[in-house]
Amino acid sequence: MKETIGFGIVGGGLIAPFHLNAIKVAANGRGVGIFDINQENARKMADQFDLKVYGSLEEMLVDDAVQVVCVATPNHLHRDVVIAAAAAGKHVLTEKPPAMSLAETDEMIAACEKAGVKLGCFVQCRIRKAIQAMKHAVDSGRFGKLLRADATMKWFRPLEYYTSDGWRGQRQSGSGVTVAQGFHYIDLLQYLAGSAVRIEARMENLNHPGIALEDDTVAFVEYANGAKGIIQLSTALWPGTDIRIELNGTEGTAIMVGETIETWKFKDERPEDEAIRNLGDASQATGAGGAADFGHVDHTVVVQDMIDCIGTDNEVAIPVKEVRPSLEIILAMYQSAARGAPVEWPVTDDPSVWKGWNSNCK
Ligand SMILES: NC(=O)c1ccc[n+]([C@@H]2O[C@H](COP(=O)([O-])OP(=O)(O)OC[C@H]3O[C@@H](n4cnc5c(N)ncnc54)[C@H](O)[C@@H]3O)[C@@H](O)[C@H]2O)c1
Repeated sequence: MKETIGFGIVGGGLIAPFHLNAIKVAANGRGVGIFDINQENARKMADQFDLKVYGSLEEMLVDDAVQVVCVATPNHLHRDVVIAAAAAGKHVLTEKPPAMSLAETDEMIAACEKAGVKLGCFVQCRIRKAIQAMKHAVDSGRFGKLLRADATMKWFRPLEYYTSDGWRGQRQSGSGVTVAQGFHYIDLLQYLAGSAVRIEARMENLNHPGIALEDDTVAFVEYANGAKGIIQLSTALWPGTDIRIELNGTEGTAIMVGETIETWKFKDERPEDEAIRNLGDASQATGAGGAADFGHVDHTVVVQDMIDCIGTDNEVAIPVKEVRPSLEIILAMYQSAARGAPVEWPVTDDPSVWKGWNSNCK
């Protein structure tokens, strides 16, 4: 029988209950303890999920009952936790974005490889059945030549979302609609259509006065396979409508809205297509109008996959190294908006984009 795998959570804010609910329902998973620099936040989670509260990260990392560390701290703090966890021999599931730079991401990957531990990322939207069907259709050539891959995220977050915690209102801690909410959907485009070669982006603050961040991004992307696409990411558009991912090829079109298939049409209609058209649950919120407005089913698959991979040579389903190209696209978008010019691959780090809201982006 498979041993029970213990999880430690670092960061007890908005996303932590999604991790903890996922661990609770996963087979052979157990929440062991939590560390948060805000002990009150840690204690709230501990009471709700029956966890120990650690006084420091180090205390968690010497606890033999913890085999996996889930990193749920603000975006600019993932790297240090991942590297410390790997050095302590813990497997790691980090929140998105894996890190704020390619250099940090590479350090995290190298640290986990050196320690022989697994490193996965919660870009859980990849798990959606509609996305898996689209991925299978791409991989089996059903689109013919892929011509377009677009993402439209017309969401809304109130001003209080950005003022509720210091890091949410600051570019240098990895906030802004592109890298925060948009990360998932850029990741889906990268997962489905592959890496990009050129991108041109414009960013604005349309609806959050006083917050020095972009809440609206529009970009034109060219993928390595020749497809092109439009990316629209916003938290400015009340009340917020469901995310759309659209793929068009010479042989077919597929569109996901929320987590359901809106359009699934291929020249070579197959028997399984009717079932695919019914995938997903239209009543399931997917984050359009509220920061915690989604379920934990997809997180559960990521957690279960980690549990099942431990003790095997299997790679986790969403390794950070396969999410790295999504970060390249994001970095290129910020660089393009700041410079007012397209950015071509290879993308390199430019730390200046994190220094603050740049009026050139308007
Ligand atoms: N996968 C998703 O769908 C999803 C959704 C929301 C947020 N996220 C990600 O989850 C992460 C956390 O976001 P959130 O919305 O929960 O933020 P949050 O501000 O609600 O919570 C962050 C928590 O981390 C704690 N913290 C800060 N610095 C710390 C440190 N050095 N050590 C330990 N704890 C520390 C804070 O006190 C806070 O309790 C971010 O990376 C974010 O991008 C992912």
